[in-house]
Amino acid sequence: MNLFIDPARRRVRLDPRDPAFFDDPYPAYAAIRAAAPAFFWEDYGFWCFAGHAEVSALLRDKRFGRQILHVMSRAELGWPEPKAHLAPFDALEQHSILEMEPPEHTRLRTLVNRAFVSRQVEKLAPRIAALANERIDAFERDGEAELLDAFATPIPVAVIADLLGVPRAMGPQLLDWSHRMVAMYQFGVTRAVEDSAADASRAFADFMRGYARARRADLKDDLISQLLVAESEEGRLSEDELVTTCVLLLNAGHEATVHAIGNAVRTILERGLDPRAIFADARATAAAVEELLRLDPPLHLFTRYALEDVEVFGVRLRRGEKIGLLLGAANRDPARFPDPDAFDPGRDPNPHATFGGGIHFCIGAPLARLEMAVALPILFARLPRLRLTARPRCRDAFHFHGLDGLRAAWS
Ligand code: HEM
Repeated sequence: MNLFIDPARRRVRLDPRDPAFFDDPYPAYAAIRAAAPAFFWEDYGFWCFAGHAEVSALLRDKRFGRQILHVMSRAELGWPEPKAHLAPFDALEQHSILEMEPPEHTRLRTLVNRAFVSRQVEKLAPRIAALANERIDAFERDGEAELLDAFATPIPVAVIADLLGVPRAMGPQLLDWSHRMVAMYQFGVTRAVEDSAADASRAFADFMRGYARARRADLKDDLISQLLVAESEEGRLSEDELVTTCVLLLNAGHEATVHAIGNAVRTILERGLDPRAIFADARATAAAVEELLRLDPPLHLFTRYALEDVEVFGVRLRRGEKIGLLLGAANRDPARFPDPDAFDPGRDPNPHATFGGGIHFCIGAPLARLEMAVALPILFARLPRLRLTARPRCRDAFHFHGLDGLRAAWS
């Protein structure tokens, strides 16, 4: 791996597309954190933070925001005009909860959050179990499978489609749109990626708008109906916000969960963990899921903008400057997690940063946790001889951290 650390100047050179890095970023994180927990990542061109204390504090620091255009103009920031060919993509981003700041953020988040509180989400457990069993029924006789495609991918998309109230049959189409849009968040975006994301955004938004309009006269017990009711009440939710929220939930609701499941299966198999012990009962399962999420989270880097001139952890930032928070590095900080590379479900508390923190803390965390807590024990109980047949590799998609395949056998 080509990793250059200049501790005196706190500068790091490390190509996020270096296979040795994205395949196993943890040794690089450890070396960087030890030398400079706050460092300027030259390849990205902004300051990043790799320690747990720093990442946790900055996620909650109100002097930073996901958004900056509410306090500074593009001209002040020295940003070029938005690219015309990205208009459909930008239109969706503009109304996304993830890209908003209070008070709009609070209004929208409150509307959506009701559907995601643990009490509501728990009701989905039997459906998740049925989906997991159906998937295994479909491939069990083959004796082997690529589990990312066959198991990890179809479950989260069906669950979020059900929760929202979109037909499950749309699953493959939703996955295609979503993958093309999410590619925009990777390092080194090309014009081809932009064009594909714009096309997918347009098609996705058109579908959602048409579907929502059709459902206005057909309200049921699902999230889209709750949002449609809010939309009908003056000032609570605009149609654009409704469309964007549905797209965001469909995207966020599966991408990360697919890879959280894939990474967890890999951890269990590679480390030879005993599924009967780690999934012995509901308490053990919950603790194991937290530790699996800590050890190998699917999302490694989130950014924030300084909303004012600030100095944090010895770094002076000007208003409008971007910073990077390395969730994957924070989760292995030995100052917070003794023996950080070990799987230890006994960590209590386990304050990992996998779902972020502060006002943007993942809305879907209870759902993602439930999907893992239901699906993983079923997989290992039904296929007790499960083993890897090839060394899994990570996708070249940093800051996403997921596998490009998970070949396994059980006969
Ligand atoms: C293991 C799976 C998941 C992981 C690791 C994950 C991770 C995250 C993280 C780190 C954030 C915060 C981003 C930031 O602070 O900038 C976030 C936000 C969010 N996540 Fe998740 N997520 C997962 C699953 C889900 C699911 C299943 C859903 C929805 C159904 C979801 C919906 C959201 C939404 C809507 C936000 C934005 C919240 C806001 O800005 O207020 N996520 N997620």
